[in-house]
Amino acid sequence: MFDLGTLSAPIVQAPMAGGISMPALAAAVCEAGGLGFLAAGYREPDAVAAEVAELRAATGRPFGLNVFVPSPGGPADPEVVARYAQRIAAEGELGEPRRDDDHFEAKLALAADLRVPVVSFTFGFPVAARCEALHAAGCAVWATVTTPAEAEVALAAGADALVLQGFEAGGHRGSFDDLAANDLGLLTLLRLVAGITAVPLIASGGLFDGAGIAAVLVAGAAAAQLGTAFALCPEAATSPVHRAAIESDAPTDVTRAFTGRRARGVVNRFMREHGEAAPSAYPEVHHLTAPLRSAARAAGDPDRLHLWAGQAHARARAIPAAQLIDELDAELRAALADPRLP
Ligand SMILES: Cc1cc2nc3c(=O)[nH]c(=O)nc-3n(C[C@H](O)[C@H](O)[C@H](O)COP(=O)(O)O)c2cc1C
Repeated sequence: MFDLGTLSAPIVQAPMAGGISMPALAAAVCEAGGLGFLAAGYREPDAVAAEVAELRAATGRPFGLNVFVPSPGGPADPEVVARYAQRIAAEGELGEPRRDDDHFEAKLALAADLRVPVVSFTFGFPVAARCEALHAAGCAVWATVTTPAEAEVALAAGADALVLQGFEAGGHRGSFDDLAANDLGLLTLLRLVAGITAVPLIASGGLFDGAGIAAVLVAGAAAAQLGTAFALCPEAATSPVHRAAIESDAPTDVTRAFTGRRARGVVNRFMREHGEAAPSAYPEVHHLTAPLRSAARAAGDPDRLHLWAGQAHARARAIPAAQLIDELDAELRAALADPRLP
């Protein structure tokens, strides 16, 4: 089973759904000695299988695949969703709000069949039997957690490692329950969870340089997972309008405006105008706004699409992934040799 100690740099490239962490980025990270990740979220199972094959053709090194866990409970109240749809109708073409499970079963089966080295979960954690099935296929199983309570649930179900997502992080909050807000900063979360388990911890959220990675290693992490820091690499399939937002020094905030689930992105007009009114209704609102967001992306309009990014987005480097890993690793070594270095 995959062992983090086999990486030459303790750096994990975060899965970034929406077409950002595609095989080219993951392969470059793996080849450079980090752990690259594919994001299965929002993708058809056949497309995920094709991406795994493409990645395997490009690298023989281990890699990860991230899967979204379906929201528990029934569909969101249709009236609440309809009210939000009415509110944003003037923004452009809307989609049909619907509850689906993002092909959860098929993706689990695929991960086991393809013997994916690391399978990570977000928005929850599967029950123990599913975790055992992945173990039987040789997959290491990681859980994304945002609180010590979520960590306990994942550990009880058999998680091999925990990805600790601090409040600084870009993209969706990995919370098991969108309404149970408990927004811990990364260092606090890391120290709280380090006190309850000996499984490897992967620290994530707002990290962009080697000194930050050194800090989380000193605080008990086995590795750091960086998302936004990789989004400007030429291998990342980040859209031009999203790249421009990441390069800017605009503030970020957490919003349900685009998907009905809390997520951090660069603040834009849509977030400002609709954020407070947006219901907790994922994935209904995700499907509702999908056509609007695709059109905005194609038109290069930064005000009507999600611009997911972590708090430190302005420090992302537009350099090849291998160079980024090398620079981060050199900074990390320097910081560990003298933690007082800037
Ligand atoms: C554009 C973008 C897309 C993301 N998509 C996913 C995803 O599909 N699955 C997931 O577990 N996390 C996702 N995340 C969150 C990352 O796993 C990670 O928690 C976050 O990037 C860490 O914060 P940072 O961006 O400041 O490094 C995404 C983050 C960003 C910025």
